[in-house]
Amino acid sequence: MALLFMLTWAAAALWGFCSAADPFASFDWNVAYMKAAPLGVEQQVISINGKFPGPIVNVTTNWNVAVNVLNSLDEPLLITW
Ligand SMILES: *[C@@H]1O[C@H](CO)[C@@H](O)[C@H](O)[C@H]1NC(C)=O
Repeated sequence: MALLFMLTWAAAALWGFCSAADPFASFDWNVAYMKAAPLGVEQQVISINGKFPGPIVNVTTNWNVAVNVLNSLDEPLLITW
């Protein structure tokens, strides 16, 4: 089954300058299929750490953010920010 997935994230830090002096935040994400009914009908969705929708990345402009992603899907994964 073909599955289209798009994850869009507004990252204000993209526009700023980051330095090592700014705070660091790191996350481990296991990306996998699961069943959920976001529109009332159960279907296969892509989850992060067993949750759909995925987690909020609560960081501030100029933070250094590292996301360690384990792709548990049976297809390639691209996450854009
Ligand atoms: C994000 O973190 C700030 C500061 O710790 C907190 O005040 C705020 O409620 C958090 N926002 C969300 C959506 O978790």
